[in-house]
Amino acid sequence: MRHRMKRSTVDSAKHNYEIVEQQKQRASRSMSRMFLFWVSQVLGILLSVLTLTWIFKHKNGFTWSSDPKRQFSWHPTFMVIGMVYLFSHGIVIFRIFPEMKKWTLKLIHMGINLTAGAMGGFALYAVIDERNTAGKDHFQSLHSWIGVGALGLFAVQWVGGVLLFLIPCSPKSLRSRAISWHILIGGAIFILSVIAAVTGIKNSAGKGDTEEKTLLNVLGIFLIISLLFHLYVLAKASYRHPSSPPTSRPPFNVRTLDPEAVPLKFWEDSD
Ligand code: HEM
Repeated sequence: MRHRMKRSTVDSAKHNYEIVEQQKQRASRSMSRMFLFWVSQVLGILLSVLTLTWIFKHKNGFTWSSDPKRQFSWHPTFMVIGMVYLFSHGIVIFRIFPEMKKWTLKLIHMGINLTAGAMGGFALYAVIDERNTAGKDHFQSLHSWIGVGALGLFAVQWVGGVLLFLIPCSPKSLRSRAISWHILIGGAIFILSVIAAVTGIKNSAGKGDTEEKTLLNVLGIFLIISLLFHLYVLAKASYRHPSSPPTSRPPFNVRTLDPEAVPLKFWEDSD
């Protein structure tokens, strides 16, 4: 009898110890998530400030058709803030706020990406209209091809995301299959966006003085740092939303490159 009581006391002490350990782990994970959130924000704000500094110091600010050169200013500004800063924020939102309901996160994710896409669309319109006014040809540079590719894929991905994950009529098995492709393709579009921004900087840097070139080089370096940081957050399985299963797998079997070789329900979309 005494022996059994002693065992139950040991068991409950062990249980309490495990609960305290779990709480400690949860607290440290939530601190590291907040750290990621602030790194993401600081990088995005820094990119926006560097771009605006360039525009106001070296491009004389913004205007519309009265001065095509200043109309161009809308293009890099809205591309960097929309297609890099907002896009990156939309990418990592599920990993940073795991305590939020997945449905709420989906709506925020969709809204941020809609704003990013609208800003990208306006930035594209600004440069096309500027080039029309100046009588220049379109889509001559590698930058413009990569940029159009990134924007086109972004639009297709956004519509596909809404149809698959927000409109609840899509079958769960299809959603389970599509989510890992959605993440993979989203990451690829973000890479393309940053490549577009860096090649855009390269095209603009040739015309400026040393100070302007230095500023644009710093902007380019921070664009690459932002890309690497957000890809790291995206790739780290432990940052995934808790309603996703504990292990992360690519959407195909890495040895055979065969999507069929991965079990259908390896990723449950809980909502
Ligand atoms: C995600 C970011 C970006 C995308 C998707 C993008 C996309 C595009 C596209 C599609 C064009 C072609 C317009 C035409 O030919 O009518 C273009 C032109 C241009 N963009 Fe960007 N852009 C981005 C960022 C930037 C940035 C950050 C800069 C400069 C700092 C820049 C500088 C230019 C310049 C100078 C042109 C006109 C000359 C050319 O076609 O290369 N872009 N951009």
